Amino acid sequence: MTQDELKRAAALAALAYVADGIVVGVGTGSTANHFIDGLAARKDRIAGAVASSEASAQRLAAHGIPLLELNDVDRLPVYVDGADEIDGGMSMIKGGGGALTREKIVAAVADVFVCICDDSKRVSVLGGFPLPVEVIPMARRYVMARLTALGGLPRLRDGFITDNGHCIIDVAGLSITDPCDLECTINQIPGVVTNGLFAQRGADVLLLARPDGVMTITRSPT
Ligand code: 5RP
Repeated sequence: MTQDELKRAAALAALAYVADGIVVGVGTGSTANHFIDGLAARKDRIAGAVASSEASAQRLAAHGIPLLELNDVDRLPVYVDGADEIDGGMSMIKGGGGALTREKIVAAVADVFVCICDDSKRVSVLGGFPLPVEVIPMARRYVMARLTALGGLPRLRDGFITDNGHCIIDVAGLSITDPCDLECTINQIPGVVTNGLFAQRGADVLLLARPDGVMTITRSPT
């Protein structure tokens, strides 16, 4: 199976978490796109979807799936999204597509975060994938210096502006052994909007697609 076929298998498995009548939170990226395409077949059975990016909103709308604003929703039972990396504690690096801030907001509201991945995304230690950090443009230089002091190799994502009008700095060279701590530390830097570590709110369920099938992994109780 190709990586894209694996992504699709994980995405379609997530449809089982979409109960009739609910509002579903929808992530961003190629795996989330497969989920949106699968959701189209049951659009008449859900109350609607909250999108984590303009790109996902456009794809949902193109399928005729009712779009809702997060502020108009009382409850979001489930959020379905991909990841760039996920570790054994269900912490993730996200934001390869640059939608990390809205993804983190929608994920925070959801009761259950279902992560959909092909098995190349599972790692023992996060940090092989450069950590995306969304930054207010005037703070770019200062934030890069602070990220360097943390041991990273920050690099501006050239020509990329987020849906919120900010820039993204990708930080290579981090070996992230305490994702919760680093998530907090980076978020404290003035000028940082948010970073792509999803550890304080990690995944509850991981649907991990391998050539022999989709494995379901659930967060162990703490
Ligand atoms: C976008 C994300 C994506 O979930 C992540 O980049 C994975 O993308 P893909 O499903 O295309 O591999 O965080 O901001």
